[in-house]
Amino acid sequence: MRGRFVAGNWKMNGSLAANAALLQAVSAGTQSLAGVECAVCVPFPYLAQAAQALKGALPVLGAQTVSEHAAGAYTGEVSASMLAEFGCRYVLVGHSERRSIFGESDAQVAAKFVAAAGAGIVPLLCLGESLAEREAGRTEEVVGRQLDAVMDTAGVQALAGAVLAYEPVWAIGTGRTASPQQAQDVHAFLRSRVAARDAKVAQGLRILYGGSVKASNASEIFAMADVDGGLIGGASLVANDFLAICNAARKG
Ligand code: 13P
Repeated sequence: MRGRFVAGNWKMNGSLAANAALLQAVSAGTQSLAGVECAVCVPFPYLAQAAQALKGALPVLGAQTVSEHAAGAYTGEVSASMLAEFGCRYVLVGHSERRSIFGESDAQVAAKFVAAAGAGIVPLLCLGESLAEREAGRTEEVVGRQLDAVMDTAGVQALAGAVLAYEPVWAIGTGRTASPQQAQDVHAFLRSRVAARDAKVAQGLRILYGGSVKASNASEIFAMADVDGGLIGGASLVANDFLAICNAARKG
């Protein structure tokens, strides 16, 4: 069956001193998590520090975005091959903050997905609807469109080596979590959307839930049939909270 996976997204947080303590604690606490893969997605300047601290063990290293371009005159951007050189195994693509604040389109997210996969980095594709979209009953339309953009560009087989993260925008950093059933409903929808193209890929696809996951609510969310783990923002900055969530994934 699908393995459990918990990824931390530090977003734009951290300092050399704070990271050293956090990486040390998280690394020490994740070595014995049988059946749960853990990752931390750190800001670009800290990739080298994190790679050094984690030494190829758990949690594995990830980044938070990637350029869709391979190289060239793209000031400020970071390519997938650069991330690979620093030992990144995962990269978030299409996080809602990238889509809404930095204007990333579905097509651009799909191109980033392809660039990451082409460099041997597992894309962690984020999907999610806004509050207005949910209230208008458009959740499936929105996440379906976001998913189709990637499947149309990369092909459904590309999802065999990827991870999805359903992150309702209204639940991110708000303390307002989707109910376990709300998460399950969207996860099942996403899996069926993939299954319509390839049942085997859909069956093996890990789909994480993200949005105000905490130690106190992780177990009930991870207990749902189509939830394979979590993408954790704020709580990934506190070692004990992140470790408790990783442990909940093991038990759930
Ligand atoms: P929070 O866990 O802080 O709500 O953030 C979720 C998120 O955006 C992870 O990518």
